[in-house]
Amino acid sequence: MISFTNVAKYYENGSTSVALDEINLKINTGEFVTLVGKSGAGKSTLIKLIIGEEQPTRGKIIVAGQDVGKMRSTDLPTLRRKLGVVFQDFRLLPKKTVHENVAFAMEVAGRLEREINEVVPQVLDMVGLADRAGHFPNQLSGGEKQRVAIARAMINRPMVIIADEPTGNLDPVNTWEIIKLLTKINELGTTIILATHSKDIVNALGKRVVSIDKGRVVRDEQNGRYILN
Ligand SMILES: Nc1ncnc2c1ncn2[C@@H]1O[C@H](COP(=O)(O)OP(=O)(O)OP(=O)(O)O)[C@@H](O)[C@H]1O
Ligand SMILES: [Mg+2]
Repeated sequence: MISFTNVAKYYENGSTSVALDEINLKINTGEFVTLVGKSGAGKSTLIKLIIGEEQPTRGKIIVAGQDVGKMRSTDLPTLRRKLGVVFQDFRLLPKKTVHENVAFAMEVAGRLEREINEVVPQVLDMVGLADRAGHFPNQLSGGEKQRVAIARAMINRPMVIIADEPTGNLDPVNTWEIIKLLTKINELGTTIILATHSKDIVNALGKRVVSIDKGRVVRDEQNGRYILN
């Protein structure tokens, strides 16, 4: 469903920084892939290439049958609708309620109000936040905020949820709630890509582990462990 063939990404601003080099990677539908590596290894860059936020310097990236490197910016919204993305800092709209934050993702996708009013409560129920629909983000705990972000990412039934360090701002209890939720979503058939620094999470999950070091995939193992160097 996602493939990288000989992909490199260099950032140019005055000097050249090699963020990714010679990446060859295939992710199949239904997989749960953990992406590990030290700070600066290239995890977020890999995610930005998948979601079309950055363009590869070299190589070919296919996401859901589309060549992301050759896409025009007008095609991006169609791609994004197939992907659910979750970040460390939640990225909720502060002046919208929980319901409105989730509904907004459907409005932007052009869905009907009747459908929105039916689906938003279902998704909030799935993430355990049915009773928080009227709250604003500043009235939620970090774990609750991240569950809203996951509900929003799920709303258009994406093929894949891509989470970049989603538990980076959370305490251990909330971290496990989020990991359990991602596991449940995966069991329901959605592919998950999870970038994380956390050795505990990676080892407890026992899923496929793709280790990145200095922009290269240095290990790729099923039932992997967190090993660097
Ligand atoms: N916009 C940018 N301009 C220039 N260099 C960048 C840019 N974004 C990232 N880099 C560089 O690319 C490399 C990879 O960065 P990236 O953010 O992908 O790492 P990461 O593995 O996500 O790290 P972290 O665990 O700290 O989030 C780093 O050397 C970084 O400094
Ligand atoms: Mg990062």
